[in-house]
Amino acid sequence: MKKTVKDVDVLGKKVFVRVDFNVPLENRKVVDDSRIKASIPTVKYLAKNGAKTILVTHLGRPKGRVVEDYRVDPVAEKLEELIGMKIKKLDYVDPHYIEEDLEEIQPGEIVMLENVRFLAGEEKCDENLAEGWADLIDIYVNDAFGTAHRAHASTYGVAEKVDGYAGLLMEKELRFFGDLLENPERPFVAILGGAKISDKIGVIECLIRKVDKILIGGGMANTFLAAQGFDLGNSFVEEKVIDTAEDLLKKAEYNGIQMVLPFDLVVTDNLKNGTHRRQAKVGEIEAGEMAVDIGDETVDIFSHIIEDARTVIMNGPMGVFETPPYHEGTVKVAKALADCDGVTVVGGGDSAAAMKKAEVEEKISHISTGGGATLKFLQGSKLPGVEVLSSK
Ligand code: 3PG
Repeated sequence: MKKTVKDVDVLGKKVFVRVDFNVPLENRKVVDDSRIKASIPTVKYLAKNGAKTILVTHLGRPKGRVVEDYRVDPVAEKLEELIGMKIKKLDYVDPHYIEEDLEEIQPGEIVMLENVRFLAGEEKCDENLAEGWADLIDIYVNDAFGTAHRAHASTYGVAEKVDGYAGLLMEKELRFFGDLLENPERPFVAILGGAKISDKIGVIECLIRKVDKILIGGGMANTFLAAQGFDLGNSFVEEKVIDTAEDLLKKAEYNGIQMVLPFDLVVTDNLKNGTHRRQAKVGEIEAGEMAVDIGDETVDIFSHIIEDARTVIMNGPMGVFETPPYHEGTVKVAKALADCDGVTVVGGGDSAAAMKKAEVEEKISHISTGGGATLKFLQGSKLPGVEVLSSK
């Protein structure tokens, strides 16, 4: 178990907090503040306990250069608005340029540095960069679960040089994923979606050893159905991994795990304008048609399984979620998840967005802030940004 920010005296200390405020912007305004909200407990805790808080995030992938559109000012403004406290935004993140400003921080004050990925050394985990920050601070806190799979200077390098603690969001993410995978109440059901099996082979292999049932939707279901010999018309199928899909189905059967594939699908002949929309049983898709969502019968079957589950994890949408009306299957599954009495955990941007769209966020036990990090965790990989933190 990792030590958290509550295991150390932060009063008057300079605390470098790596957060993941990599949020979508439109016209330089934050359009989804979920990740910012999720770190508020850590920021407030530090301020209340007299820390000199230094927030550090990346935004986008500016690749070691200053890109005006990726400056983090809109993020700092959003945080200020959400917590009702002054956030002093600095225009630099390089240790050489911030020393004086950091000296001036008073206990309880909060400073936010510029986008850490403006520095070429960040993604290279540059030793001098990490050392530079380490020399200026007293305590390192990682609250950036979404970036914990990256061994960068701000997520890993600096924590090798200063005692590192988990932030309260990080602690919550680790608690849910840890308990979930190590000690789930059963039946334990996984719902997997998204376009490709190839992105999630490791996750499926790991889940086959842990869960009781896996419900498959989204584009990846097509490839499994193709492996079972069904003709999917014009649907997206990953031809190269059909054999792998067949293998995974066999492994699941061997382990006594039920892989539940769609029985019916919403099909169209034109994804862009949503025409020719009908429900087709698997095996009855015509040439020129493509599957874009799970059908009503499948939604019902999935919903019944979810209702009886004691633990459910969902990752990935059930259809072409970003193109209405093909988001409907995902939203209905989100509602079924909300009605489940067991522990429910959702990971990945589209699945989190589906909870929002279905207006059920409050009814889900935990909506993870991680995308890639969640997948790494689910496939049993160690996350460098977590490993490097002090243990209890
Ligand atoms: C994410 O959005 O998944 C995290 O912020 C990590 O971003 P990255 O994939 O650019 O490292």
